[in-house]
Amino acid sequence: CGIVGYIGLNDSKEVLLKGLEKLEYRGYDSAGIAVKNENGVSVFKEKGRIADLRAIVDDSVTGSIGIGHTRWATHGAPSKINAHPHQSSTGRFTLVHNGVIENYSQLKREHLSNVELASETDTEVIVQLIEGFVQQGLSTEEAFQQTLKELKGSYALALLDNEVADTIFVAKNKSPLLIGLGEDFNVIASDAMAMLQVTNQYVELMDKEIVILTKDAAVIKNLSGETMTRAPYTAELDASDIEKGTYPHYMLKEIDEQPLVMRKIIQAYQNETGELAIEDSILEAVNAADRIYIVACGTSYHAGLVGKEFLEKTAKIPTEVHVASEFVYNMPLLSEKPLFIFISQSGETADSRAVLVHIKGLGHPALTLTNVAGSTLSREANHTLLLHAGPEIAVASTKAYTAQIAVLAILAAVAGKAKGLEMSFDLIQELGIAANAMEAMTDDKEAFEQIAREYLSVTRNAFFIGRSMDYHVVQEAALKLKEISYIQAEGFAGGELKHGTIALIEDGTPVVAISTQENVNLSIRGNVKEVAARGAYTCIISMKGLEEEGDSYVIPHVNELLSPLVSVVPTQLIAYYAALHRDCDVDKPRNLAKSVTVE
Ligand code: G6P
Repeated sequence: CGIVGYIGLNDSKEVLLKGLEKLEYRGYDSAGIAVKNENGVSVFKEKGRIADLRAIVDDSVTGSIGIGHTRWATHGAPSKINAHPHQSSTGRFTLVHNGVIENYSQLKREHLSNVELASETDTEVIVQLIEGFVQQGLSTEEAFQQTLKELKGSYALALLDNEVADTIFVAKNKSPLLIGLGEDFNVIASDAMAMLQVTNQYVELMDKEIVILTKDAAVIKNLSGETMTRAPYTAELDASDIEKGTYPHYMLKEIDEQPLVMRKIIQAYQNETGELAIEDSILEAVNAADRIYIVACGTSYHAGLVGKEFLEKTAKIPTEVHVASEFVYNMPLLSEKPLFIFISQSGETADSRAVLVHIKGLGHPALTLTNVAGSTLSREANHTLLLHAGPEIAVASTKAYTAQIAVLAILAAVAGKAKGLEMSFDLIQELGIAANAMEAMTDDKEAFEQIAREYLSVTRNAFFIGRSMDYHVVQEAALKLKEISYIQAEGFAGGELKHGTIALIEDGTPVVAISTQENVNLSIRGNVKEVAARGAYTCIISMKGLEEEGDSYVIPHVNELLSPLVSVVPTQLIAYYAALHRDCDVDKPRNLAKSVTVE
C-alpha cells in the first residue's frame, strides 16, 4: 500500500491523486482520499485503480488538507468498504494506514467490544482506538501516542481530526514514510517519487516516531514525546525518469533501458584510473566472511542465484541463497563469520527486512544491494551498493534484475582481486559487450513478438528449461511470464524435468529451452528432444557459437558467466508480448504489488 498527504494553502485533491498515481505500484486494488475544509472532512473511495477513484471524486469539494491511500489488500477483500481512509464511529477522525497490525483482533476484543466496525480492516481498529482514548479525556496527540503504544506490527499512518483545524498527525513503524517540505505547504508520502511534482526536499522518519505536521512545520517526536531534529535531504530523482514518454508501457521502456543501465553501472563502479572499484569497507566485509548468505524475494532472489555463481567462482567465497520469507523459520546453520547480502530493488520488502532485523539482532554484518538510496534496507544495513537502474515502475522487474546481476559480478570480481585472485577476462569489456548484445535484441522486438504469438497465444501453461547458468535464468523467465500473462509457467533444470514434471507435457505444450553454456549445450538439446518426443512444442534460444539449425532465436555471443544478463532479455520480451496479446495489464498485473511492505 502507499499513502500520501498534503497540508498547505491550495486544494489538496490533485496533489493527492497525482501522488497516488505514482504510488500505484505499491498496490492498486482500491484507493481513497479524504479532503478537509472548514466544514469538515469529505471521503471519496473506490474499488479499483486511481482512475476509478478520480471518476468519483467530487470536483466541487475542496480542502487544503488531505490524505490518500492506494491499497494492496491484506485484511479484508478489496472493496469500497475496506478501502482507506477509514473513519471513527462519530466521523471525527479519519485515517490512512500502510502496514499490518498483528494484534488487531486482540485490540478489538479488549477495547472495542461496544463499537460496531464498518470494515474488516485492521486500520479501522486504530482509528476507533484513537477516538476511544479521546472520549476518555485524552487530547488527540495523547490519544495518538497512546494508541501507537498498543499497536504491534507495521504502520505508516496519517490522521485527520475534524476538531484540530490545521494538523495532520503522522506516525511510522517499519513501513516507509517521508515528510516532504515546501513553501507554505508540507506533504507526506510512502516514497519521494510520489511528491516529486511539488518538492524534492525530504525528511526521513525513523521507526516509532510521530510527526505533528502543519503547513509550516514538521515537528518530529519519539514515543516518549521528546522532539527530534533532523535535516532534510534532496531527492536526487529526475521527474522525467518516472514518465513513460512515448512508450506504451513502463515495462517495455525499462527493458529497453537495460543497455544504458549496464553502461551507467560500469561508470559508477569505476575509479579515476578506470578500474572497477568498490568501497574498501565493503571489500573488507566481503573478504572477512567465511560464507555469504544472500537473502531476497521474487526476481531479486533469482538475481541472487546468479550472484552466488559469481561469488563462488570469482571471489571463491561459499555462498547460499535464501528466500527471505522462509529464512527465519528454516534458519540454516550459520558459519562463524557470515556476511548477509540483501538484494532488493525497492529496498522496502518487508520479508527481507524481517531477516535483516533478525540477523542484526544476532550481531551479523549486512550489505544491501538496492535501487533506492535511503530505502529502509539500505539505511539499516551496514553497507549499501546501489544499482543505478533508475526508477523501475512496472511491477514486473526487468532492468533491476540485470542491474543486480551486473553489480554482483563487479562485487565478486573486485573482492576476488582484493585478495589476489585475477579474473580470466576483462569484466569492463565483457559488460560492455553484454550491453551491446542487449541492445541488439531490444532492437529486434518483432522476433520476440512472433515467438510469443506462435507459442503462447492460446496455451494454458508453458515450461522453460535450462542447465547451469541457464537454469537460473529460466526460473526468472517463468516468473516473468506468469506474473504478467497469467500463463502458468515453470522454470526447470533441464535434467530434472524427466523426474516428474515431464508428466505434464502434452501435445502442443510449449517448452522453451535456453542454451548459452557450451558444457551443457548437448545435454539441454537432449532434454528438448525428450519433450519433443512427447508432443511438446519446443523453442530453443541459443547463443551464437552454439546455435543449430531450427533454433528459434540466436542471441549474440557474450562471456558465458555473464550470459544471464543477455539471455533473460528475450524472455522478458516474450513475456511482454504474450501479456499484450492476451490483453493483460502489463504494468499492473492482477493481485501483485511492486513493493510488498507486509510480511
Ligand atoms: C514483489 C514484486 C516482485 C519483486 C519482489 C521483491 O513481490 O512483485 O517483482 O521481485 O517483490 O522486491 P524487491 O523490491 O525486494 O526487489
